Amino acid sequence: MNLYNIKHPEEQVNFAQAVRQGLGKDQGLFFPEIIPTLTNIDELLALPLVERSQKILAALIGEEIPTETLNAMVKNAFTFPAPLAKVNDAIYALELFHGPTLAFKDFGGRFMAQALAAVRGDGKITILTATSGDTGAAVAHAFYGLENINVVILYPKGKISPLQEKLFCTLGGNIRTVAIESDFDACQALVKQAFDDEELRQAIGLNSANSINISRLLAQVCYYFEAVAQLPKEKRENVVVSVPSGNFGNLTAGLIAKTLGLPIKRFIASTNANDTVPRYLRSGQWEPNATVATLSNAMDVSRPNNWPRVEELFKRNGWNLADLGSDALNDVETEQALKAQNDEGYLCEPHGAIAYQVLKDQLQAGETGIFLCTAHPAKFKESVERILDIELPLPEALDKHNKLPLLSDVMENDFAKLRAYLLAK
Ligand SMILES: Cc1ncc(COP(=O)(O)O)c(C=O)c1O
Repeated sequence: MNLYNIKHPEEQVNFAQAVRQGLGKDQGLFFPEIIPTLTNIDELLALPLVERSQKILAALIGEEIPTETLNAMVKNAFTFPAPLAKVNDAIYALELFHGPTLAFKDFGGRFMAQALAAVRGDGKITILTATSGDTGAAVAHAFYGLENINVVILYPKGKISPLQEKLFCTLGGNIRTVAIESDFDACQALVKQAFDDEELRQAIGLNSANSINISRLLAQVCYYFEAVAQLPKEKRENVVVSVPSGNFGNLTAGLIAKTLGLPIKRFIASTNANDTVPRYLRSGQWEPNATVATLSNAMDVSRPNNWPRVEELFKRNGWNLADLGSDALNDVETEQALKAQNDEGYLCEPHGAIAYQVLKDQLQAGETGIFLCTAHPAKFKESVERILDIELPLPEALDKHNKLPLLSDVMENDFAKLRAYLLAK
């Protein structure tokens, strides 16, 4: 598989290098040179998740990873289902929260850990990643206990749910967590700065596990196929998918699935009040505001990292950005959406509720809508219980971690301090 740096197309790498490096020169994102068109979509859709995903990833990655190795990677990573739940005759929920950390990031995180273990070579590796909530848990659990791989996770102090924090800040071992006294964009900026520091990069074998790492993105492509595969055949014609979006990795993966030939009519990017993209799609002006804290905190991102990849896909496919649906919901509207969903008999959480409501608002007659449920409702227990006036039992995975003490370090938003911390350990 050949990939190029979107900012500097002359920088070209193979899959192994892209996985090890994460980001290219000038923080440029790597992007596949070729995304093949699959001609056997119906055959693929008839296969079970793991087998189908092995074939999709083989088509994307090519011969660079031996078939047996790739098959084992997929089998080890995708150990849980992604069921499609019917909400009403026209709307389905793709439940991506049945993995060990109850969030969609388990797909990407676990596949990336497998990929890195397969291509790492002999050197020491430090995974440095920023999280607005769920990435941290997925990465921490995917890498926990892997030999010679250290993981450092930055997150905005006080801006993620207490339960989310417990899930990844209680592991210890090769997983270290740092609460940064600022917002997610600052955490992301610190990670980028670290990657720009060549000396640091070499010294600790820096690698990222954000959605900027191509292996995570490729893994996420697979569950869009799984969604369509579970639809009744007569409903596969006019499929519209609504993606709750923050950093836009998930949407990028969906667009790659469409590029491969998956029959998806259009996508909708659904955001919270951090609405840089919906405003950009309306006005043509890229004008990020300061990030604001919302109920759907994992989407509190005003400068989405993956947006250049989205634009690249539209450009290369000759698609029109005007065809990308979008809208933003504020917290009051998010609460109403969660209640409306619950009234329809489907229990969700704020991120999925936004994707559901925007889908419902924009779905046309004759279309089948799918929205992505990116996290288990219990991961946002406080909000869900308050808004719906119900009591939610904690699933076992959360309950176990909830009882353990937090092991995080606290740090100012200061790159010099982070640098020293990384070098010291
Ligand atoms: C629960 C949840 N929903 C949605 C998103 C947004 O996904 P993306 O950053 O790929 O747009 C995230 C990202 O962390 C998330 O944790």
